Amino acid sequence: MTKIAIWCRHTNDNIIGIGPNIPWHVSSDFKRFKRITNGHHLVAGQTTYESFPNRTLPNRKLHVLTFDKTYQVSDTENHFVHTDYHDFDTFENDLFIVGGASIYKLFMTNINTMPDVIIDSEYLPNLSSEFSGTPVDITPCINAMHAYYERIGTPQKLDNIVTTVWVKKDIQTPDILEHIFNAIHQQ
Ligand SMILES: NC(=O)c1ccc[n+]([C@@H]2O[C@H](COP(=O)([O-])OP(=O)(O)OC[C@H]3O[C@@H](n4cnc5c(N)ncnc54)[C@H](OP(=O)(O)O)[C@@H]3O)[C@@H](O)[C@H]2O)c1
Repeated sequence: MTKIAIWCRHTNDNIIGIGPNIPWHVSSDFKRFKRITNGHHLVAGQTTYESFPNRTLPNRKLHVLTFDKTYQVSDTENHFVHTDYHDFDTFENDLFIVGGASIYKLFMTNINTMPDVIIDSEYLPNLSSEFSGTPVDITPCINAMHAYYERIGTPQKLDNIVTTVWVKKDIQTPDILEHIFNAIHQQ
């Protein structure tokens, strides 16, 4: 299996959320996320899972990380509860790590659980003042990305978002990269 982290962060300060919200609405970014993750297994923290419309993402298997062993998912056929992120150490499928901040940090700051690939999207404009709440950033993940990963391919710019793919320095090129690049460059 290949582990892939996918995020969209505000450039320079690495903010991915204000309170519970992602502080931008860029439909091409949501569409790209859907194309890349369609049909795959995704792992999300409980807060991010609760933020999905109706607590679901169609045509994807959702793995929810929570400390609450009694947590109830919205779809017991396609969603699964995990209380230990080491469940994914030997996971048989490709796995997309889709946030939020605590989950990115969990995987990215442990050398043994770091994803093989990162799809790093940067939102370039200033943040809108319509969002209020505590900013949530992933700076430790970005520091680890610069230390342990190398960029591959050409960054793609669309609607003020630049997307770059990074691969861990010590791994063989995973098969899923072709799918990722096709999904990024399709519009
Ligand atoms: N821009 C992006 O790409 C993007 C993507 C996703 C999310 N976001 C943003 O990220 C923010 C949410 O991030 P967050 O850090 O607050 O929440 P989160 O990571 O989505 O979820 C946090 C929850 O995950 C569970 N958890 C954390 N560590 C765990 C562990 N080691 N084992 C088991 N369960 C664990 C806990 O659930 P329990 O409390 O149930 O125990 C914890 O409360 C929001 O602003 C959201 O909009 C942005």
